[in-house]
Formats: sequence, C-alpha cells, structure tokens
Amino acid sequence: VFGKVSKVVCVGAGYVGGPTCAMIAHKCPHITVTVVDMNEVKIAEWNSDKLPIYEPGLDEIVFAARGRNLFFSSDIPKAIAEADLIFISVNTPTKMYGRGKGMAPDLKYVESVSRTIAQYAGGPKIVVEKSTVPVKAAESIGCILREAQKNNENLKFQVLSNPEFLAEGTAMKDLANPDRVLIGGETSVEGLQAVAELVRIYENWVPRDRIITTNTWSSELSKLVANAFLAQRISSINSISAVCEATGADISEVAHAVGYDTRIGCKFLKASVGFGGSCFQKDVLSLVYLCESLNLPQVAEYWQGVIDVNNWQRRRFADKIIAELFNTVTDKKLPSSDSPSRKTPVSHLESFVPLIFQNPFPGDTRESSAIYVIKHLMEEHAKLSIYDPKVQKSQMLNDLASVTSAQDVERLITVETDPYSAARGAHAIVVLTEWDEFVELNYDRIHADMQHPAAIFDGRLILDQKTLRDIGFRTFAIGTAP
Ligand code: NAD
Ligand code: UGA
Repeated sequence: VFGKVSKVVCVGAGYVGGPTCAMIAHKCPHITVTVVDMNEVKIAEWNSDKLPIYEPGLDEIVFAARGRNLFFSSDIPKAIAEADLIFISVNTPTKMYGRGKGMAPDLKYVESVSRTIAQYAGGPKIVVEKSTVPVKAAESIGCILREAQKNNENLKFQVLSNPEFLAEGTAMKDLANPDRVLIGGETSVEGLQAVAELVRIYENWVPRDRIITTNTWSSELSKLVANAFLAQRISSINSISAVCEATGADISEVAHAVGYDTRIGCKFLKASVGFGGSCFQKDVLSLVYLCESLNLPQVAEYWQGVIDVNNWQRRRFADKIIAELFNTVTDKKLPSSDSPSRKTPVSHLESFVPLIFQNPFPGDTRESSAIYVIKHLMEEHAKLSIYDPKVQKSQMLNDLASVTSAQDVERLITVETDPYSAARGAHAIVVLTEWDEFVELNYDRIHADMQHPAAIFDGRLILDQKTLRDIGFRTFAIGTAP
C-alpha cells in the first residue's frame, strides 16, 4: 500500500519539528522534507537568515539544505496532499481547562492536525506521532482518519508512534547520534510495512541496532516513562540535598559516590533549584493522570511525588533566602524584630536573580524554575533586580506576570543589562542559572558595591564557596551545609 517514501512533511515547526526535519534533510538528500506551521511568522523566520530557535549546528544544516531538499511553508493542505509520510510535531501542553485541567496534556492541536490530514490527504499516508502524547493517542488519531477513509476509498492510513528524545541545547548532537530511535506501530502487514518505511529513513544515519521497534502503545508509554525517570533522578538528588544541608554531607560528593555505581550512573544527578523546561512537569503530570484514569492510585501517587519534590525544592530554596536575609537584615534595620514570620513583607530584600536556565541556550523559558523562585520571593514583597545575559526583558516580564500579576511585576522587578549594576546596593545575589559568565564575574568588585553583610545563594552549584567567603560573602549553596 505504501510506496517508498520520497516526500516527508512535518506539521509543527517548533523546537522538535524544525531540528528533526533539518537532520532528516541533511542525512537523506534523496528525500524532500517540508516543514509546515499555522504560525506564518515562524515560517517566515525559518526562511530567513535568523532562525526562530537557536541550537548549535542548526544554522549550518538549515542554510545548506534549505531550497534544496528542505522547505518551510504555510501551505499546509498542499504539503499534506503531496506527502508520503507526515510527522505530527505540534505542542501538547498541559490542559488549562475542563476535564484533566492542570494534569492531562491538551491534545487539541494533535486532533486538529489529524482532521486536516483527513481532509487533504487524497491518498495513502503514513502518519507519525512525533509529539509526546498519552498512551492510546494513536487510537484517537486513527479514529479520525478511518472516518475519512469511509468516504474515500483512495485513502489509506497507518499511524506510527516515533517519540523524540532530544534535549534543548544539544538537539543537533542528539539527533545526529541518538542513544536510540523508537518506532511503534501495528503488527498487521500494513503496520509492519509502515514501520519498515520509517526505519529505512533513520537507517540513513542511525545504526540499525539503535532503532527499536515496538507495538504502538509501548512506544507512546516509553516516552512518558523516559521523561518520568529522568525527572525522578533530579527529584531524588534534590531530596537528598536537603539531608546534606542538615548534616554536613556534600551533595556533589554524594552524587559522585553514588553515581559511580555503574548500575546507577553519574548522569542527571546534579542537584538544583528544581527541574524546568517545557516537558518534564507536563509529561510526569500526564503519566499521573493516565494512572489515575486507569484506576492505579498508588502508581499515580508515586509519580506525583516527583512533581511534589520539585515544587518543594523551589519553595525550600526561596524560603531559605527569605529566612537567611530576614534574620540578617532584621538585626540591623528593623527595630522590633521578634518573630519574623513568612508573612512579614521583606521589602528591604533586594537581589539580582539571573532568570531562566532551562538549558545553556537562549529562547525557551517554559516552566523555568527561576520563574517560581522569583514568584515566591515576590510573594514576600522582595524587590528584585534581575539580570540574564540571554533572555529578553519582555520575555522575563511576561513570564513573571503570568504567575504573579502585572502590578507586582511593575512594583517589584527591575531588569538590568549589566550584572554589576544589578548587584549594586543589593543585600544578596541569587544564582539561578548555569551561565559561565557568572563564574567569571569580579566578585571583589560586586561585594564592594553591595550592602553588608552581603550574601550569595547558589542554586546551581557553580560558584566556589570558599573564594566567596574569603571575599567576605555569606554563602549558601544547594546541598551543602552552611
Ligand atoms: P513548539 O511549541 O516549539 O512547536 C509546536 C508548533 O506546532 C508551533 O509552532 C505551533 O504553531 C504548531 N502548531 C500547533 N498546532 C498546529 C496546527 N494545527 N497546524 C499547524 N501547526 C500547528 O513545541 P515543541 O517544543 O517542538 O514540542 C512539540 C512536541 O514534541 C510536544 O509534544 C513536546 O512534548 C515534544 N517534545 C519536545 C521536546 C523539546 O525539547 N522541546 C523534546 C522532545 C519532545
Ligand atoms: C528533556 C530530556 O532531557 C529529553 O530527553 C527530552 O526529549 C525532553 O526533556 C522532552 O521530552 O522535552 P530538556 O527539558 O530540553 O530535555 O532539557 P534537560 O537538559 O533534560 O534539562 C531539564 C531540566 O532538568 C533543566 O531545568 C535542568 O536544569 C534540570 N536538570 C538536569 C537538573 O536539575 N539536574 C540534572 O542533573 C539535569
């Protein structure tokens, strides 16, 4: 039914669709790849000299392939009609309304693309879920497509699951040399044929033994589980960071010692102010919701714990800052200082908080833990001066307004373009991102310009505490005893 694939279309020109298709076009010169999106501005950017996302190595590949066998277009019906294989790579954010609000992924974009495919396909198509979806989503897509088939005998569809495992910041490396490619499909003759066609595309650069084929549901579930396990490691190490702070153990030493066991492994064991990014929270919540729907409350509760620890870690870090600063500053500035409750406005707290750190590259601030730490500090009426070398001021203000209010942002937040100005006159510095630049700052100069005693809270374990203490800072770092 399905001939050799020579035309691929990807619906959704985002962080996944763009880089993935650029890699396919790069590795498969015999295949024409067209990436479409309903956002015309984004498509115009993909066709310009300044691409809408930054990933090391992406520009080179896009500029070389664009116009040759890689195209970006807003003409979705035409692209679908001409394609042999269609990736669905649209966003699946946490639902913010109705049933499953705050837990389930919103599949309205996936559904809408499915309807568009049903409408414009005209002939046989292999449809590939690249978006992260709950188990059985392929069934819903198949249902919409089968309905169209009833009215047009030329139509034939096979729905495959082919989740993406790239991380932002290393997308091109991950795509060029993936740990594995996962493809799920039906075990029918047509299903196996469709799987074989997708395998054939990846085989152009991925060794066959790293291409795993499974049934559709295993593939869909494996993506959620992979993200849940990664997030779980971070929550595990973050939970232990609190034990370290209370005992004198050091979280970096513990992570090193524990991770040296090859059964555990040393990757993804860095304590932090909590994981951020567009997917970990959304995908773990999706798994929790799935388990609840399957009437598996113990399993749901187990994975909910990963999210709870992450929220707790963000809050714990903010509380630490408030407690430490309040006590210090109270002694000096407030005449009656008996019981510093958390409700007391800490209006004298000023700090510079580098915002966003989802990964070491600019652009994607989704669910950054920095946003939540700042939110908690704002709830205490802390005045914050924020510096980040990579994030636009408007983006920071919008992100903060979305979790607080425009008035509070206006009243409490200043955005600086220079770290030294941001720290001038502050009581404390809060480091929330891993930018190399923060390691290299002149902390003698910064200390001289701050209010004393000056404090530094390192939520990323990037600064040398001893050097800072020698300069005169009071220091606090995640997972180390004061
Ligand atoms: P994104 O928001 O960057 O891009 C999605 C694009 O889809 C947007 O440009 C949007 O305009 C477009 N779109 C939505 N509905 C459409 C429609 N009906 N027709 C045409 N275009 C439409 O999202 P993303 O980060 O690329 O994520 C896509 C999927 O991949 C999600 O399910 C996500 O969970 C998953 N994923 C993301 C990453 C990551 O690092 N960002 C990694 C692995 C998997
Ligand atoms: C993550 C996964 O790594 C990808 O495999 C997956 O495809 C993707 O989610 C997805 O499905 O969207 P990403 O969110 O882009 O990728 O970035 P990561 O590098 O994994 O970092 C996620 C968050 O965890 C960041 O906030 C990071 O600071 C934090 N983190 C990571 C830690 O706190 N400690 C660590 O040891 C590692």
